[in-house]
Amino acid sequence: EHGLHAPDYPWSHNGYFSAYDHASIRRGHQVYTQVCAACHSVQSLHYRNLVGVAYTEEEMKEAAAEAEMEDGPNEEGEMFERPGRLSDPLPRPYANEEGARYANGGAYPPDLSLITKARHNGTNYVFSLLLGYRDPPAGVHIREGLYYNPYFVGGAIAMPKMLADGGTEYDDGTIATESQQAKDVSTFLAWAAEPEHDERKLMGIKWIFVLSVVWVTAAYYKRWKWAPIK
Ligand code: HEM
Repeated sequence: EHGLHAPDYPWSHNGYFSAYDHASIRRGHQVYTQVCAACHSVQSLHYRNLVGVAYTEEEMKEAAAEAEMEDGPNEEGEMFERPGRLSDPLPRPYANEEGARYANGGAYPPDLSLITKARHNGTNYVFSLLLGYRDPPAGVHIREGLYYNPYFVGGAIAMPKMLADGGTEYDDGTIATESQQAKDVSTFLAWAAEPEHDERKLMGIKWIFVLSVVWVTAAYYKRWKWAPIK
């Protein structure tokens, strides 16, 4: 049922006290926009979700305004195009699953909102899958339109190898090697699937602190109260 099991990589957000690498989320969004968004949606995300996470409000307003959004109907009953706003969803490449399959020879590029959760060992899986394209081993025949990738269930995937050195233009000057892009887009998708992650861990730390203080106080109070009786 699984493809080849992806190894565990040391993601910056792995530890109990660790947060996402937000510069990597930002670069990962750039990989997504410049490469993946041609075929995959991330329906859960609106431009505003990236504000304060990976971009300033000004930066995101500009990015949103570059996208043409269909809106309407207007008073004449017509649909029209307008520049995007922070409240708009990230643009989707296809109107629906039928359109997506039609453009991809019958295969369906899934929405990536929850992909790191939906797949076993998700973040490691996405990273490994993107870098996992190889020539098929001797004797393994791969059908026309499919590509050998041992991390994909069945070993033959309809998505061609998408990453190549220099495939993304990063705005922070990072050199876009193939593996750099795979790492960044995997971090971006991990964040998209679990945007509350940093907050959740920070709250955990705060609660452990507060409960420790309460516990010490209660223990001291109990001993103090019982001292005259013993
Ligand atoms: C499948 C990621 C770019 C077409 C997938 C899967 C992932 C993924 C995680 C799912 C594998 C699974 O079901 O377990 C990405 C990322 C991209 C990217 C991160 C950018 C770096 C693209 C592009 C296209 C594309 C540009 C179209 C030209 C597909 C198709 C499938 C797929 C057709 C379905 C494969 C199958 O069911 O055999 N992609 N993708 N992907 N992707 Fe992409």
